[in-house]
Amino acid sequence: MSTSDSKLMRGDIPRPFHVLKARQFDRPFLDYLCLLTDTIRKFDKTTAGLKYLQSLLSHKRAMLYFTQPSTRTFLSFQSACHILGIKSSEIRDASISSERKGESIEDSLRTFSSYVDLIIMRSPVAGLCDHIADLLDATDRPVSIINAGSGPDEHPTQALLDIYTLNRSFIKSGGIEGKTICMVGDLKRGRTVRSLSQLLINYPGIKLIYSSPKEFNIEADLKKMLIEHKISFEETDDFIDAIGSSDAVYMTRIQDEYDSVAGASKAVDTSKFRMSGQHLKYLKPNAIIMHPMPRREEIAPEVDHDPKAKYWRQERNGMWTRTALITMLLGVDNHIALPDF
Ligand code: CP
Repeated sequence: MSTSDSKLMRGDIPRPFHVLKARQFDRPFLDYLCLLTDTIRKFDKTTAGLKYLQSLLSHKRAMLYFTQPSTRTFLSFQSACHILGIKSSEIRDASISSERKGESIEDSLRTFSSYVDLIIMRSPVAGLCDHIADLLDATDRPVSIINAGSGPDEHPTQALLDIYTLNRSFIKSGGIEGKTICMVGDLKRGRTVRSLSQLLINYPGIKLIYSSPKEFNIEADLKKMLIEHKISFEETDDFIDAIGSSDAVYMTRIQDEYDSVAGASKAVDTSKFRMSGQHLKYLKPNAIIMHPMPRREEIAPEVDHDPKAKYWRQERNGMWTRTALITMLLGVDNHIALPDF
């Protein structure tokens, strides 16, 4: 693992109470989370190891409140809870909760907090997780909130698992520092792109290439953040040149659920921004292909068989990264013996 210059002790890493935004994480935290995740997943190899993990948080309960569709994030968080012995409950459709009877979202979430120790929430509304965290912090029973995707705004735990995947992929080539990462697709509304960009500023020498049709270019606030942190970046619609210059190509789908007029995205020509088997020859020999998934036509299924394709592994990494993150939030990560850190 490539670690930051300062060698910190485990006790020096601040444990977050909530996970709301990618920018709350710094390099020591990311290095620690990667090491913790590597260590925890080794427990999966034996029955005794899995039983140990299940004993860590068997006294805790979690609520998964997902009012926007999800496959990976929901299932990987639910699996992470089960790995740690946490009992989980869920609402996946506000129309079958008392919100249907006119209860406010604030009252609904405060009610959940009466029953559980952790709320993992996905919502189409940007900023809702922060608002709920503030609300619960002011009560006599604050519980941890994890943002599992908030509108086009943030997806911090996806970014954490993306960092873990990059870190593992570049373990033999000096880590993430100095690498060129290309992000492709709907960069305007892709929350994974926003959150991952925010985390990548922690790695000296990083270069970012954003490749998209101009209609889906990154937003001004992201550009401003990159400039403020003196991150080298470029925007281009030359897909072939972009992927050929990169160590990691991070493909994303068009986020047409956020179209202000239904079907508006269809008017944008995205055909140049797709990876097929024919494109593999343009990639550097050790380049990797990632995707937060779900995908549509931006990666052809024939690419799945190439060793450069890491998106299925990325999904599984998500379960282990989220398991490690929950141990930190609920204060049991120090029960996992680590190699030197
Ligand atoms: N990457 C991701 O958030 O996938 P889901 O929408 O399936 O959870």
